[in-house]
Amino acid sequence: MLPMSSLLVIHGPNLNLLGTREPELYGSQTLADHIASLTEAARAHSMSVVDMQSNSESAIVEAIHGAKGVHEAIIINAGALTHYSWAIHDALRSFPGRVIEVHLSNPGAREDFRHVSVLSGVVDGTISGFGGYGYVLAVHALAEM
Ligand code: DQA
Repeated sequence: MLPMSSLLVIHGPNLNLLGTREPELYGSQTLADHIASLTEAARAHSMSVVDMQSNSESAIVEAIHGAKGVHEAIIINAGALTHYSWAIHDALRSFPGRVIEVHLSNPGAREDFRHVSVLSGVVDGTISGFGGYGYVLAVHALAEM
């Protein structure tokens, strides 16, 4: 039997507030709800999930460093850090596995400052605008890749 592959799911600033934060944009599900759905999808593909959320850029950079040799893939919703964190960009460059960027909303259809992702050039793919279903899609994509 093949060893179970491990997935690190990273959430950035303010995503701990999901459920109550601008529900008209981000929906009424909590972060725990999203993690539960994606974990169920991952289990169906024999993947295990470790998740972390931080409002601190440095904690996210360190989590990415720690993922090397431990996790085969990363799913990341870096929140607003998506738009300006070159530190997360550089950390992801050094991660050897697959990386999928997920956004609940479609940042391209929102304010100008959200139109740029400084992470998109160092990820395998981006899924935006499908709410929490984006995480499940990301798991399916990783399983197929
Ligand atoms: C977000 C989009 C970002 O622009 C925003 O800062 C977030 C959430 C999303 O999931 O749609 O915090 O990443």
